[in-house]
Amino acid sequence: MGGKVLSVASECVPLIKTGGLADVVGALPAALAPLGWEMRVLLPAYRSLRHHFEEDPEAWPEVWFEAGLWGGDGRVFAGQVDGIEVLLLDAPHLFDREGGPYNHSGSDWPDNPQRFAALSWIGAQLARDGIAGWKPEVLHAHDWQAGLAPAYLAYHGNGGCRSVMTVHNIAFQGRAPTELLGELRLPGWAFHPGALEYFGGLSSLKAGLITADRITTVSPSYAAELMRPEFGMGLEGVIAERAGVVSGILNGVDTGIWSPEAAAENGYSARNLAGKAAARAAMSREFGLDVPGPIAIVVSRLTDQKGIDLLPAVTPGFIEAGGGLVVLGAGDPALEGAMRDLAARFPGRVAVTIGYDEALSRRLFQGGDAVLVPSRFEPCGLTQMYGLRYGTVPVVAAVGGLGDTVINASPLALAAGAATGITFWPTDALALSQALRRLVALYADRGLWLKMQRMAMAQPVGWETSAAAYAALYEGLR
Ligand code: ADP
Ligand code: GLC
Repeated sequence: MGGKVLSVASECVPLIKTGGLADVVGALPAALAPLGWEMRVLLPAYRSLRHHFEEDPEAWPEVWFEAGLWGGDGRVFAGQVDGIEVLLLDAPHLFDREGGPYNHSGSDWPDNPQRFAALSWIGAQLARDGIAGWKPEVLHAHDWQAGLAPAYLAYHGNGGCRSVMTVHNIAFQGRAPTELLGELRLPGWAFHPGALEYFGGLSSLKAGLITADRITTVSPSYAAELMRPEFGMGLEGVIAERAGVVSGILNGVDTGIWSPEAAAENGYSARNLAGKAAARAAMSREFGLDVPGPIAIVVSRLTDQKGIDLLPAVTPGFIEAGGGLVVLGAGDPALEGAMRDLAARFPGRVAVTIGYDEALSRRLFQGGDAVLVPSRFEPCGLTQMYGLRYGTVPVVAAVGGLGDTVINASPLALAAGAATGITFWPTDALALSQALRRLVALYADRGLWLKMQRMAMAQPVGWETSAAAYAALYEGLR
């Protein structure tokens, strides 16, 4: 049947990205279109995005005006970027600043509650009233930044528009002090533990979770994990209470971009892996590496979530066994320092680039033998799926979406030809070092390794199945 969906988010590839959220928000419109669902994406007009409507006002007409949007006027401009129908919320007093979307020089913007309340408020207004005749049936809110959008629909009228709240990462909850209740346009009568109150304050994510018509998260395992205290981070009870409307829909990856066949140089396929060997050699030259065993890559935010702190303990043993490590990442300064130390300690075996570099990340996925994802929790994870697509065997902690996407090389799975990678549990140095030992052994068995690489590359990691699941979810709300 199909229909219209307004996606409300703080990131979207190719406009603004700090993590996988952006990839998913940017990929959904094209994935849903063949199923009859037309999606537009509402984003804040951060400073880096203003040039779109400033330089080409004809292609970016103003479609909404609102005075008094938390200290200034708000305007929405509508245009197209790479085929995505984008709505940019221009509220210069909230978004036209130097720095990242959520913080600058390491500290959160103090007015984040108001900034993303404004995004959510406008999202709810557009969903309720429609934009120049374009009236969505569903508002799809992503993470805490859009958490108040379903709440505004619930408390201020939804005009027939239903809502979906997707949790990409429960670790970010949009906390705010109780004093902001009125300022954030939330009703006092709903301030109790069964509704808006959250550990003595407010949480925009909780507000979304209690008011949305449906809750989704980005893998089936994470949907189950979220109802347990180890992973729910305080919201487990809220989610468990709504278990009947919770589902896990695995992310896909854009295989038009992330695929070894699409590589500019040293392209390859499952049938002809010669290009992969050439890419490995090129990567080794680029970083001055000489590694007899498997080269493991890490492309990641350097944070506690990702288990990066375990690398210093396990790397010496891995190097001793013949392995090598290439890290690309940025984040926690202590972890950045620890990675630099590793590179200094093992020249020729460990290379570290601190920074964010998508072109380099692609060279690593092409050239690496394995991709390491030792996360403590992982709602879905995209890099293990890139690994599958590139035949860069994933070595992952068996949590969340990592466990859902990688088939462990157990003796039986290997014998059956089903294995696509190595999983380990729990996320600690012992289990990770054992996983790396298995990696070295498997890599040494060329026949088995090749079989596993090919199996990995044959996995469907595109958006087709998941887009159909979202379409079915929206359909069920009409
Ligand atoms: P998360 O969203 O938790 O960071 P995901 O695996 O879902 O984890 O998505 C991370 C995305 O960011 C992937 O597309 C990954 O390739 C990319 N990425 C992370 N760090 C870097 C980096 N330093 N350089 C380039 N790309 C990166
Ligand atoms: C979050 C999660 C990651 C997921 C991404 C996209 O950033 O940490 O696991 O893949 O969102 O849903």
